[in-house]
Formats: sequence, C-alpha cells, structure tokens
Amino acid sequence: MTILGIESSCDETAAAIVEDGRLLHANVVATQIDIHEQYGGVVPEVAARSHIEVILPVIEEAMTKAFGTVDWYKIDAIAVTNGPGLSGSLLIGTLTARTLAELKSKPLYPVNHVLGHVYANYIQPDDRGDWKQPEFPLLALIVSGGHSQLVLFEDHFNYRLLGRTQDDAIGEAFDKVAKIIGLPYPGGPSIEKAAAEGDAYAFDFPKARMPNPYDFSFSGLKTAVLRRVQSICGKDFTFPSFELAALLSASQVNDIAASFQRIALETVVDKTEKASQEFNPQSVVIAGGVAASGALREMLSARLPLDIEYAARNLCTDNAAMIATLGYYVAQNQEPTKQELVEILPNLKM
Ligand code: KG4
Ligand code: ZN
Repeated sequence: MTILGIESSCDETAAAIVEDGRLLHANVVATQIDIHEQYGGVVPEVAARSHIEVILPVIEEAMTKAFGTVDWYKIDAIAVTNGPGLSGSLLIGTLTARTLAELKSKPLYPVNHVLGHVYANYIQPDDRGDWKQPEFPLLALIVSGGHSQLVLFEDHFNYRLLGRTQDDAIGEAFDKVAKIIGLPYPGGPSIEKAAAEGDAYAFDFPKARMPNPYDFSFSGLKTAVLRRVQSICGKDFTFPSFELAALLSASQVNDIAASFQRIALETVVDKTEKASQEFNPQSVVIAGGVAASGALREMLSARLPLDIEYAARNLCTDNAAMIATLGYYVAQNQEPTKQELVEILPNLKM
C-alpha cells in the first residue's frame, strides 16, 4: 500500500511517499526557517500564507521523485496531519488533502502529528540491511518544539501516557534559551553547536522535581538561565532582550549553552531510563525535533542497557514521511474518513 503523506502543522510544508509503512520513496520538506528566523520564532499568519504558496509544488515534487512523473494511479491513499498545530497552517494541509482525495478518488486518513513523530522510527534506512522495526512493548520519548512526553505502547493503537510536560516543551526551552543568549532560531541546533565549544559544568542549573516522576517541567530551567544571564551582565532587561545577549562574551554563551543543554537532556534521559527499568520495553525510540540532537543520542545510548536504533535526523524534525508511515498503520486498523468530515483539531492530544 503506497501512501502520500501531507504535513503542514507548523512551519514546514511537506509531502512524502511511503510504501507499506516502511519504504521511503520520496520525502520533500519546504522549510520556512529563513522567514521566521527574522522574527526569532514562528509567526502563524506568515506560516499559513507560505504553506499556500508551496504546498502543490511540494506534492508534485514528491510524486516526481518517487515515480518519475506525477502518477496518481500509484497512490493508494492519502494521510494528512489534522492536529495538533497552528490552525491556519493545519487548514492548508487538510483542505489540500481533502480536495485531492475527492478529485482523485483516494481514501483519506487524518492523523495525529505527535503520534506521527514516533513513526519516523518505522522507516527503513536505505543503507542498512540488518535493520529491524521497533517492537512492542515500545517506550517512546517524544521531544519536540510543542511536546514533551513519555508514552508506553503495548501495540500501535494501545498506548499509555506515562507523563508529559506541565509547562514548556523541551524544544521550546531550547528556542527560548537560544533567544536569551543571542543564538539564532531554531534554538536546538544552534545551542548544540555552541555547547560543543563550552563547559557543560560551568553553571549549575536546576532540574525540576515533579510529583509524577514521568512528568516534565522546563519553564523553571529557562527562567534560571535568564536570571543567571542577568546577574552575569549586571542588568535585568526583561525577556526577550537582545541588549542582554550582546553583553555576554562568546565563551560565556558557549558555557551557558552547554550547561543548559546538559540539564535539559539529563532531565529527559533520567526519566527514560527510569521508565525503561520499570516497564522493560522491547524497544525504546526517541521522536520529535529534539531527537535530532547528537548529544541526546550519546547520553541515552550510554545510559540504557538495550541498543537503540535512531531515525535519520531529517526524519526527526517535521516531515510528511512520518505522516504517511503512521497513515499506513491507521489504514490497517480503521476505515478512511469521508473527506468532508476531516476537520482540523489544533489542540488534539494523544
Ligand atoms: O518536531 P519539530 O520539528 O516541530 C514540532 O513539532 O515542534 O521540533 C522542532 C524543535 C525546535 O524547538 C528545535 O529547537 C528542536 O526541535 N531541535 C533540537 C535540535 N534540532 C531541532 N533541539 C535540540 N537539539 C537539536 N539538535
Ligand atoms: Zn513536530
């Protein structure tokens, strides 16, 4: 079964073609990072307008990459992200998918973006003959710009949320801390780069303690970084302040980045290790944009007793390959949704 996946929930417009929830034939992502970089974050109205401009060319490019031409006969179904995400952005993807499903008479499957991140781990890397798909019970650490949660899957659609963030998502904390110390958006990759030059023990930032040990909280950590920067600079500009970052030296920026990154990543690794000891999963996967972090991968591999297969980094940040892959498993389990009934669900939860 060959599925066209469509994703537009935030600031990437993406289309991909995946066969049988495993074989990736095309993966096209048009990112808006250069547009939003000027504002230090995503501007929803700008994002929606930019999706409209590129969504059809992105879908055509994915079809051409997969089949050599735009060939609808080779597509068995369409999967589209209908939530969670920015309303205006989600609307462009879902309306496009609905229209194409109607025009080309294809079954349509709306899917959850956050769950989709987990399915990046079901895509076969093209250079690995010995690779195996994850097995159940499966422990998933989902860490992105909008979400931080630990989920235990007994089966594809039978899962339990062990814990989630009570305030900011971890990726959001990376983005905000980057802004405080004057590093470019998105914060994750720029903090990882600066951290490689810094001392991860230069500053001792706090780790939040939660009543449920699998819940997360990152807003205190972000505030601790801000307070520390204010005390280093001897000024208390309110957040966000470009003036504050300009007072830091390059080595202070690197040390703060490294110390923040260590605490943020240790927090999620501590909880993943604890859950892995308690629930004894067959596989552990990490998912979402922060899962692209090399530092997270190193730390986790060192701490867990089992081998982890990491998804390709470009499949961790937003893409449509994960949406097409999840769409395949949804299609095995349920009927397609009539196109006129596919609505956006900006606050959809797992
Ligand atoms: O999954 P994603 O592309 O979008 C959401 O669904 O939110 O995640 C984007 C997030 C951003 O906050 C970005 O800073 C973070 O993923 N990220 C990273 C890294 N690469 C991207 N965080 C830490 N280290 C990285 N290398
Ligand atoms: Zn995402």
